[in-house]
Amino acid sequence: METQKFFSKLGKEITLRVQKNADTAALLEYINTLVDENVDILMNTHVTLLEEEAYVKECSESMKKEESLHVVAMDGDVLVGKSDVKRESYKERHIAGFGISLKNGYRSLGIGRRLAEVVLDWAKEHPEIEKVYLTVFGSNEQAIGLYKKLGFQEFGRMPDGIQSNGKYADRVYMYLDTRT
Ligand SMILES: CC(C)(COP(=O)(O)OP(=O)(O)OC[C@H]1O[C@@H](n2cnc3c(N)ncnc32)[C@H](O)[C@@H]1OP(=O)(O)O)[C@@H](O)C(=O)NCCC(=O)NCCS
Repeated sequence: METQKFFSKLGKEITLRVQKNADTAALLEYINTLVDENVDILMNTHVTLLEEEAYVKECSESMKKEESLHVVAMDGDVLVGKSDVKRESYKERHIAGFGISLKNGYRSLGIGRRLAEVVLDWAKEHPEIEKVYLTVFGSNEQAIGLYKKLGFQEFGRMPDGIQSNGKYADRVYMYLDTRT
């Protein structure tokens, strides 16, 4: 994917580029900040530097094999978002899982949509990927709103499939046919 620059709705220049091994420390701080904030993501425990190094290495290896794309959104030197798509294995190699998140202060500015589009365009350019899927908290109206605008449709819902701080949320499953 080509590096892209654009201006957020607040006029900040945001760069979207492929994740690098040198991003490890920034990614570690980023994910742990999201965990502390308790946003609607599944992760709820801090990641260690060793775990993050292993994760970033695995991302690089899978990107080399064109199995995945991991994109970061940067405001200057600050990592403010991340999105990825990764092919599954075995009899699921024609489908790929998708994820996205933004740092607090960078949401609702159109960045999520641009970031998701770059990642989904990559999936569409890979005809061996036929569908992209995701799971989302049923209470996450903003994320579900974005996914619907991108063409995702719900294909299932597990009532109370997520438990966070004693509260339940439905686990919603959505997919996008990337061949059409
Ligand atoms: C979910 C998230 C990635 C969305 O990115 P974002 O940059 O905040 O969203 P955008 O500003 O690009 O808005 C995307 C679209 O969703 C729509 N939207 C926003 N809030 C909405 C709401 N409450 N209900 C319905 N639609 C909504 C907007 O209208 C927008 O469409 P537009 O571009 O035509 O205006 C971001 O808010 C985030 O990181 N949240 C915390 C982590 C998270 O929840 N990740 C998803 C886990 S599954």
